[in-house]
Amino acid sequence: MVTIGCVKKTLYFSVFVLISICGVMVAILWPTVFRMLIEKDLTLRESSKSYRAWKHTTLPLYLDFYMFNWTNPQESLSNPNVKPIVVEVGPYVFREVHEKLNLTWNANNTVSYWQRRTWYFEPELSRGSLSDEITNVNVVAVTIATMADQIHVKYSDLVKKIINMFLKNTEKKLYIKKTVRELLFDGYDDGVLDLMKKLENLIKIPVQDRFGWFYPVSL
Ligand SMILES: *[C@@H]1O[C@H](CO)[C@@H](O)[C@H](O)[C@H]1NC(C)=O
Ligand SMILES: *[C@@H]1O[C@H](CO)[C@@H](O)[C@H](O)[C@H]1NC(C)=O
Ligand SMILES: *[C@@H]1O[C@H](CO)[C@@H](O)[C@H](O)[C@H]1NC(C)=O
Repeated sequence: MVTIGCVKKTLYFSVFVLISICGVMVAILWPTVFRMLIEKDLTLRESSKSYRAWKHTTLPLYLDFYMFNWTNPQESLSNPNVKPIVVEVGPYVFREVHEKLNLTWNANNTVSYWQRRTWYFEPELSRGSLSDEITNVNVVAVTIATMADQIHVKYSDLVKKIINMFLKNTEKKLYIKKTVRELLFDGYDDGVLDLMKKLENLIKIPVQDRFGWFYPVSL
């Protein structure tokens, strides 16, 4: 005879066993399931959640530039008692976007790509505009004057003479006045650079056609 009490006990026991088995299975399988979920979202695959964020930056990245405006170049150069005055201007803020292009999925679980970084000027976040004029040390002339001393090639004496003559004759000033845009990305033409470009083969140093801190990166 099967009594009600016995049925109840059996039922409780079965439920207990069932729950225990489930518990043990979850405990055993959980790491695998967890890893599957993670891999699904974090593995770099065209269908994964992380892929879009990786391919194209979604978080805003900002780059702040501060310039130093030399406000008394003539006075400080002609009179040794006058200290140069530099005034900090800016920030000129750029939003930076990273984009990965020409993706190639390799057989060895790697991916090859080109990264394109683009800068967008943010006038609202900046103080000033890209057409602000800034007086700076003439980096080109100073650099070339320094470089001329270090040229050790055939005819280096002749090359040095040409450069020195050029620096003197054009009365290359020690300072230049350029817009923020030119100083940073656009670059500007410079007579000395043109000359150096012509002498490139002789001095065996590669010369850029324009100068800008981030030239030839373009906006
Ligand atoms: C930099 O200084 C010059 C000379 O004082 C001035 O004309 C120019 O407006 C200044 N530029 C900025 C951005 O303040
Ligand atoms: C990327 O691919 C495009 C065409 O799909 C091509 O025109 C471009 O040159 C490639 N860029 C690089 C850096 O390989
Ligand atoms: C994977 O394959 C690519 C293309 O064949 C190769 O350039 C890269 O070096 C390989 N990477 C590794 C880690 O083997």
